[in-house]
Amino acid sequence: MIAKKTLWGPVHGVVVGHTFTGFILRGTMQPLQCVLRGQRAFPWGPAASVSRQLRTCRAHGSLCSTVGPGPERLEDGVRKDFSSRLADGPTFQHFLRNALPSEEKPPCPEVADSPPYLSVDHLLGRQRKVYLETYGCQMNVNDTEIAWSILQKSGYLRTNNLQEADVILLVTCSIREKAEQTIWNRLQQLKTLKTRRLRSRGPLRIGILGCMAERLKEEILDKEKMVDILAGPDAYRDLPRLLAVTESGQQAANVLLSFDETYADVMPVQASPGATSAFVSIMRGCDNMCSYCIVPFTRGRERSRPIASILEEVRQLSEQVLQLIHERDNICKQIHLPAQSGSSRVLEAMRRGYSREAYVDLVHHIRESIPGVSLSSDFIAGFCGETEDDHLQTVSLLREVQYNIGFLFAYSMRQKTRAFHRLKDDVPEEVKLRRLEELITVFREEATKANQSFVGRTQLVLVEGFSKRSTSDLCGRNDGNLKVIFADVEMEDVASPGLKVRAQPGDYVLVKISSASSQTLKGHALCRTTLQDSSAQLTAWVHPDEAENCGCR
Ligand code: 5AD
Repeated sequence: MIAKKTLWGPVHGVVVGHTFTGFILRGTMQPLQCVLRGQRAFPWGPAASVSRQLRTCRAHGSLCSTVGPGPERLEDGVRKDFSSRLADGPTFQHFLRNALPSEEKPPCPEVADSPPYLSVDHLLGRQRKVYLETYGCQMNVNDTEIAWSILQKSGYLRTNNLQEADVILLVTCSIREKAEQTIWNRLQQLKTLKTRRLRSRGPLRIGILGCMAERLKEEILDKEKMVDILAGPDAYRDLPRLLAVTESGQQAANVLLSFDETYADVMPVQASPGATSAFVSIMRGCDNMCSYCIVPFTRGRERSRPIASILEEVRQLSEQVLQLIHERDNICKQIHLPAQSGSSRVLEAMRRGYSREAYVDLVHHIRESIPGVSLSSDFIAGFCGETEDDHLQTVSLLREVQYNIGFLFAYSMRQKTRAFHRLKDDVPEEVKLRRLEELITVFREEATKANQSFVGRTQLVLVEGFSKRSTSDLCGRNDGNLKVIFADVEMEDVASPGLKVRAQPGDYVLVKISSASSQTLKGHALCRTTLQDSSAQLTAWVHPDEAENCGCR
């Protein structure tokens, strides 16, 4: 019992986790593989009931610590043939291999490197349906996505319907007592589901994931016999194996904490495709040890994700955003990409973090992803050290990109900035203003050319109100956020044919464009419509020939 306490007490739980993961030769976290190799090496056999795993952990922990005290500390039976088993065990090279940084590991190492008594087939979900329920903080929302990403790769399906689930996993929170009470109550409800389940459907598996699994460990399994799986916050990679173990009717647990598990290589899968936000987790755990807080004990030591993996996830999210802008008619197709300068040398002095070439590549990528996208930018004329050649490069960038909307400024030194302390505001005022004028002229020429392409085409315009210049005109924005001015006259309403209406702010109006400047489009209203009704006509924006087919004159 003391041994058990030593193993499972909150602080020692962490220590045990560290014994495995801090076993430096292993490098990245694969605690259960570590445990399972222990099982191979010790006489308790492969059966993975929780208590057996605990003993295995303990033995393995002792094995790790034998570096100091020596093998005589091991139990007699173990010592007897220790040398022969040691010879059969993993080699030094084996540990080095497993110490590769996580990015170099296979995406689902538990399948690639499975314990001998579980075939790859066992580790697969075989289309079984998982229902995930998230409690608590944003980390848990992100952890749910990670857990699901791992299970999805292992062949599980996701369901949002509790009744059709084969596996129910609760991602739990321990932060306050009430949070845990909610889970205990939920378990009572789930108990009925489990007991009433038809035999023909196969058993329903229930798992407790996250902080409560970590804090209470086997107390949950003892108290709630119907819980099949416990997985602490650092053990989600092990979920396929834990679920496989339950197939023989046993409970399975992995609550080892890690020094370095960040799930860097697991791309979270967002639960609902319609979600309006996504979390990018950059670190796990906490070392602060605030005197009231359980988090350091449930989530383990603080560790950060490698920057490259964070950037990759953000890149993928940005791709999704571009995809959404492209797909959805209710999202305006305009992107603001403040370039500031067309000269890589000036961009470096500005510490912008990109070169002209990288910027231009991004522009091409966005234009390919969202055909017809409208681009806007900010530029600064006469930044510290800007030469005439740098300025000409900005001119050429304006020509090359042909922005639809632009914001151009002469540089003014601001106190406290890095430039104020380190650089010289050496471009004379009149030169700054002359360059600014040149930039404005070029921007206008290019924007006018770009906007001219709308003449003769029909645009869907979201009405904002009266035009600033005249109350007999209305002003609105097209899908590229360009200002469109048109006369405020009665028009047909597509929703009620025969009815004449005046467009109001918030209405959608089809406007046929008759002229364009660098700033605005002008035209006449064809009819009031809705986003849904107009979507059939949206192609008309790209193909002017179809503009006349809009069904209203
Ligand atoms: N001088 C001139 N323009 C500036 N901007 C920001 N700081 C300065 C400055 N010191 C411009 C940049 C930025 C926009 C909001 O204002 O172009 O993108």
